[in-house]
Amino acid sequence: MLFNFNINESYFAEINYIYTLLSKKIFKIMNTVELIAKKRDGVPLTENEIIYLVDRFTKGKIPGYQFSSLLMAIYLKGMRTEETAALTLAMLNSGIVVDLSSIKGAKVDKHSTGGVGDKTSLILAPIVAAAGINVPMISGRGLGHTGGTLDKLESIPGFKTNLNLQQYKSIIKKCGAVLIGQTSKIAPADKLIYSLRDVTATIESIPLITGSIMSKKLAEGIDGLVLDVKTGSGAFMRELKDARALAQSLINTAKAFDKKVLAIITDMNQPLGNYIGNWLEVYESVKVLQGEIVDDLVTISLNLSGAMIYLGGKAKSIEEGIAISKKMISSGKAFDKFLEISKLQGGDISYLTNLDKYPKSKYSEKITAQKPGYLKQINNYKIGMASLELGAGRKTMEDVIDPKAGIIFHPKIGTKINKGDVIAELYTDKKNSLKLSKKMILDSLTFSDSKVRKAKLIKEIIS
Ligand code: URA
Repeated sequence: MLFNFNINESYFAEINYIYTLLSKKIFKIMNTVELIAKKRDGVPLTENEIIYLVDRFTKGKIPGYQFSSLLMAIYLKGMRTEETAALTLAMLNSGIVVDLSSIKGAKVDKHSTGGVGDKTSLILAPIVAAAGINVPMISGRGLGHTGGTLDKLESIPGFKTNLNLQQYKSIIKKCGAVLIGQTSKIAPADKLIYSLRDVTATIESIPLITGSIMSKKLAEGIDGLVLDVKTGSGAFMRELKDARALAQSLINTAKAFDKKVLAIITDMNQPLGNYIGNWLEVYESVKVLQGEIVDDLVTISLNLSGAMIYLGGKAKSIEEGIAISKKMISSGKAFDKFLEISKLQGGDISYLTNLDKYPKSKYSEKITAQKPGYLKQINNYKIGMASLELGAGRKTMEDVIDPKAGIIFHPKIGTKINKGDVIAELYTDKKNSLKLSKKMILDSLTFSDSKVRKAKLIKEIIS
């Protein structure tokens, strides 16, 4: 399997890795129980010890029950910056690092910690590529209340995301951006470790999250990375202090690998934009790329694309990067780039140039306000779950999603609502999901009689 594709990269990565192990004398047998005890007692592990543990576990030489115990020790005791970097290195070296050196220009990606209505990848990839910076993106699927970039793109008829790394390179070379799914060659250790974390209550660990995210991002062959770390009721990190700690850990690790990096901490207390659901989010992204929408989604997307253009060296500041991004939209170049990427990945672009061509859901329902008030708070997690209930998401990885399903959610925190105003529109092919979804949305909203301040979209920029 290793040899029919990307032979050079796989081969040299393995040789390089074995060389590293030999030069550091990691092949000397270590005592796994002692290493677990060391971490349990709060003593930092060395780089060699971490590389040994990850390598042996990935190759099936350390059983899951022992590695689970190590994960719990890491969860409880944390890791120093150097340990997190070593963990990332070990996970990265479990697979290949794509060599994009034959492609001219900077390669910059964005990673978002995910949220409800978060479609910024679809917007910023074409903007940044149109501005002359390569965007090699390996993305994920939606699970639980958050959507996934791959599911959104696959709602475009014909659009393929399961491309191999040769196709990945070839599309970046042709048009400067590509959006594909995880391949088995990229950080395979992450898949194994994540499955264990999932069943051992060790997901919410900053060093483990950092290793997981950064090993996959560093394998893409990037020079720079912009992190969109979300905080609020629809985010992985609900509290600002946790989002800040994760952002800092990701930045420290990226810097340990000599990558240009900055993090933007953004609000996830309400849906980003107004559309939630796979095709609905493609629809809204097209409208943004065509310059027809100016709202919170555009503000966040332009800050992220501006930061990417800045890290890619085409702007002297994020602000200048934002100005360039706006030009890419107003000139039509960003939308043309989106069409080009979609076509190269097999998408039928007639659905993008004629949005009304897309099939409609069998059932729809409007939720209207029963009394006037100001929208004070949204349990954004519940909005995401309501969209999942309609068919837009999965409860297990095996579930099949309905690309048409979802919610158009109209108000923002602070919006004055009059009796009878439409709060949300629901779309589904499952008639009996409407009642529960409607209840979930209504339960998620809190109103106030007095004026409410708008949410601050960008909480912090850390560089
Ligand atoms: N996303 C990842 O890729 N890994 C984690 O551990 C958490 C979020």
